[in-house]
Amino acid sequence: MSDKLIIFDTTLRDGEQSPGASMTREEKLRIARQLERLKVDVIEAGFAASSNGDFEAVKSIADTIKESTVCSLARANDRDIARAAEALKGARSARIHTFIATSELHMEKKLRMTREQVLEQARLAVRFARNLCDNIEFSPEDGYRSDPDFLCRVLEAVIEEGATTLNIPDTVGYAIPELYGNFIRSLRERVPNSDKAIWSVHCHNDLGMAVANSLAGVKLGGARQVECTINGLGERAGNCSLEEVVMAVKTRRDYFGLEVGIDASQIVPASRMVAQTTGFVVQPNKAVVGANAFAHASGIHQDGVLKARDTYEIMRAEDVGWSANKIVLGKLSGRNAFKQRLQDLGVALESEAEVNAAFVRFKDLADRKSEIFDEDIIALVADESVTQEQEHYRLLALSQSSETGERPHAAVTFSAGHEEFRAEADGNGPVDASLKAIESRLQTGAELLLYSVNAITSGSTESQGEVTVRLQLGGRVVNGVGADPDIVVASAKAYLAALNKLHSKAERVAAQG
Ligand code: KIV
Ligand code: ZN
Repeated sequence: MSDKLIIFDTTLRDGEQSPGASMTREEKLRIARQLERLKVDVIEAGFAASSNGDFEAVKSIADTIKESTVCSLARANDRDIARAAEALKGARSARIHTFIATSELHMEKKLRMTREQVLEQARLAVRFARNLCDNIEFSPEDGYRSDPDFLCRVLEAVIEEGATTLNIPDTVGYAIPELYGNFIRSLRERVPNSDKAIWSVHCHNDLGMAVANSLAGVKLGGARQVECTINGLGERAGNCSLEEVVMAVKTRRDYFGLEVGIDASQIVPASRMVAQTTGFVVQPNKAVVGANAFAHASGIHQDGVLKARDTYEIMRAEDVGWSANKIVLGKLSGRNAFKQRLQDLGVALESEAEVNAAFVRFKDLADRKSEIFDEDIIALVADESVTQEQEHYRLLALSQSSETGERPHAAVTFSAGHEEFRAEADGNGPVDASLKAIESRLQTGAELLLYSVNAITSGSTESQGEVTVRLQLGGRVVNGVGADPDIVVASAKAYLAALNKLHSKAERVAAQG
């Protein structure tokens, strides 16, 4: 059996199904490029038949990505599969991932189909897909809760039709590691042609065991593909987290004995990009990518780490892309040093115009903040790429006053296209007053679903605040992110960034599995 573990990233498909995490085509493309730098084997770019927006997103990712296989999800019907094939036409390496539910519950209540109908539809779908693409993945949705005898019949049939990967989802996160691992092993033993396909695991995190279940599927079950998302993003409690699975397999190579092709130094940049784009912040104590994952607070631990690093550290922060809050640039740094730092961070800006604009922002930040860290640069560049794409509203100036016993007041000047506006309002606090001022002028009626502030670098009040604002208007949900040493300014920037997305014509894409 192969000792290569295939990493299949579904941040842009299953991860995006998380309410509020939907992304524009440009955002998906930016993340896909980062996934390529991370060297994931397969990028599930979306669900082409679910909307025109998702079709376009899959298509541009397929046309752009060269090093990873690009995949689209498709229900087990000709229309979905043909649409997926069409979107993937430009890919150097393409995969169609087709699925149909096989548990009694799903077949009876959701599909209203008999077992024989489901078996036939799965067979026909894979046959049809195989005529369009030679790399076909089949998933029996809710596979873990399906009757094993029936499941074996379906799996055998789809392998006969040419499926090259068989993925066994624990769609509702019900599995227990040992049971899931044994389930995969027994399917592999019972399906007569099982050696003709690669077996894959796909676990949801409802009981907090998605990573453990996936690893058991690999170790006990012999699966050689793991489906996962950056930061474990996904509906409900999320999916199996890519960074945890990858670092478990790399760190415990002695136990797993498997190779993964991932460039781990790109993990933290990928995590930050996904968090910034979706507004789903990473909890500080999250393994590998949480802000505290490598912080040693207790004196005993600090002392141990200083004497010998491996007393308390099993991985090195820099190996997964943490830059240890290094002060990297200052006010006097030039454009070349800035550009070099972007390269070292693996950040690719598309054009010289983007580099120039980001450099202007960097200089502005350096005037106001004495120490600039890698994290500041990443935030600034994320801001820049969003700005280049879709800036209609732009913050020009903000002043606010707050005093104990007085109601806070804010005055905001911003541009909308070529017009300039100034608006004032009172609020419960300076942030509330600033957002109310903007809203009083624009009257968008957008509903604020989420407001959160994060320090970009830890350990100092000098840190920039990174604000995420989630707005809903007319059925669309968008996230805006803004960063600034002044959190009121960061909040106004985030609010305008979200309004820019609502204003833009870019169709939001929300795939449904
Ligand atoms: O969780 C699930 O069952 C899925 C399938 C569509 C693969 O995401
Ligand atoms: Zn799923």
